[in-house]
Amino acid sequence: MKTDHSFAPLAAIETELLAVLAVDTQTEKGPEAKPQPELLTSDAAVKAAAAAVLASGEYKAGANETLLLHAPAGLAAKRLLIVGLGKKSKLASPAVRNAAGTAVRFSKPRGIRELALALPEIEEYAARSARALAEGAILGDFDSDTYRSDRKDLSVQRFVLAAPHAAPDAVTKSAVKAAFAEGVIVGESQNFTRSLVNEPGNKLTPTILGQRAAEMAAEVGLDWQVHSTEKLVELKMGAFLGVAQGSAEPPALIVLRYTPQGQPASPNGPVLGLVGKGITFDSGGISLKPGENMEKMKYDMAGGAAMLGAMRAIALLKPTVPVLAVVCATENMPDGKAYKPGDVVTAMSGKTIDIINTDAEGRLVLADGLTYARQLGATHLIDAATLTGAIAVALGTWNAGAFSNDDDTFAKFQSALAVSGEKFWRMPLADEYADQIKSDIADIKNTGGRYGGASTAAEFLHTFSEDTPWIHLDIAGMAWIDDARPYIAKGPSGVAVRSILEWVRSY
Ligand code: BES
Ligand code: MN
Ligand code: ZN
Repeated sequence: MKTDHSFAPLAAIETELLAVLAVDTQTEKGPEAKPQPELLTSDAAVKAAAAAVLASGEYKAGANETLLLHAPAGLAAKRLLIVGLGKKSKLASPAVRNAAGTAVRFSKPRGIRELALALPEIEEYAARSARALAEGAILGDFDSDTYRSDRKDLSVQRFVLAAPHAAPDAVTKSAVKAAFAEGVIVGESQNFTRSLVNEPGNKLTPTILGQRAAEMAAEVGLDWQVHSTEKLVELKMGAFLGVAQGSAEPPALIVLRYTPQGQPASPNGPVLGLVGKGITFDSGGISLKPGENMEKMKYDMAGGAAMLGAMRAIALLKPTVPVLAVVCATENMPDGKAYKPGDVVTAMSGKTIDIINTDAEGRLVLADGLTYARQLGATHLIDAATLTGAIAVALGTWNAGAFSNDDDTFAKFQSALAVSGEKFWRMPLADEYADQIKSDIADIKNTGGRYGGASTAAEFLHTFSEDTPWIHLDIAGMAWIDDARPYIAKGPSGVAVRSILEWVRSY
């Protein structure tokens, strides 16, 4: 998808489809309160073209509600599409992002390959909206049917942001342009993550994930290394190796590094460490999962893929802080050589782990990933993982879980969420959860019983982040979208990329 911007009057834009956003300004409630749709543009020609249908009461401007007019009078555009944002009083940044996705996903099945979208005239948010629209359009363009041999590529070829009201003001104009360009980078990076998560386990082995990471890193100018078994042995990564030993595919330890240019590195400054779970297929191992839905476990590398997408965006947006990423990639398989319940493994940190369930493998690879990131100099850690079914039970599919051992670090993440528009809910860590994973035979065990499964998993990781300020993101319920939405396809969501990026940029 090519992106561009235009500061010409909306009526003059020659395009297959001009999309304009609308809100419902009704503040009353109750049966008498009819919706009052209002277009977020001051363009007289657009308003005139839509006046009759808006007056009819047929269109309510609900979130992602669309209305199409052909051959709109007085406009150079062939079609006018109105996309709703919902109640004006409840307007938030995800609504604008989603509306752009809706406009693109409206166009795709109709063979409309080119469209323009008017930047909503909500003055204080011009730049923020421009970024959100770019993100939403690019995210909306993604579809996951890449392996269908009868696939028709319906992607939108050209997407134009139309911002005529910014034209007279050079400052706003350049802010809109910059924010839009930023949104393109962020959207494309999130789609990079989604394309990795979408890949089947046989097409994306740990080795191939390593190659994809290396290609991306070379393209955007990150330092990279991809290690395998030998290095894991050298580093004494007994937990990661334990998981990997049951697979015929060798593991990959992916390390990416971003170093800010043009300023002296401050010796005592922060170094951010991003650690991702990269299980390219999770069968459960000897503690084999039930057959139903097992095919979904190809997305068990979504946390690792989120870190790779975030690193891509970091390389292109160049924050002032050094960042390193560690992705621990392996399959989790049953085999004669596989690790077993009752085994004890020694993690890189020296801690011994009693294996109760081989399906609790994510925390094992992350244990060594966190230790390694600290050894490489990370002063602040963030990890992302499809770690537990329990987080999805607790929060459903509309909030991901976040845990932290440090309130200041978490506060920065919370602020990042306001920009990213993603929903993470803080969940508890506590000594009592840590007590649940005490072992009779070793330092800790890898499961803590039925209750509080997301928190006992987080406390397991806490054993390895120790007192380094750390955030753990459990995205198991959010990494895969089961049903298509107007603004996004079903399949991989790319969750956490934007929030991790914004958190990094806050340093
Ligand atoms: N990859 C799974 C968690 C998961 C579940 C991700 C559903 C996405 C959707 C993880 O490795 C796992 O199997 N966790 C177990 C832990 C248990 C054995 C303590 C779980 O959640 O059941
Ligand atoms: Mn598992
Ligand atoms: Zn897993």
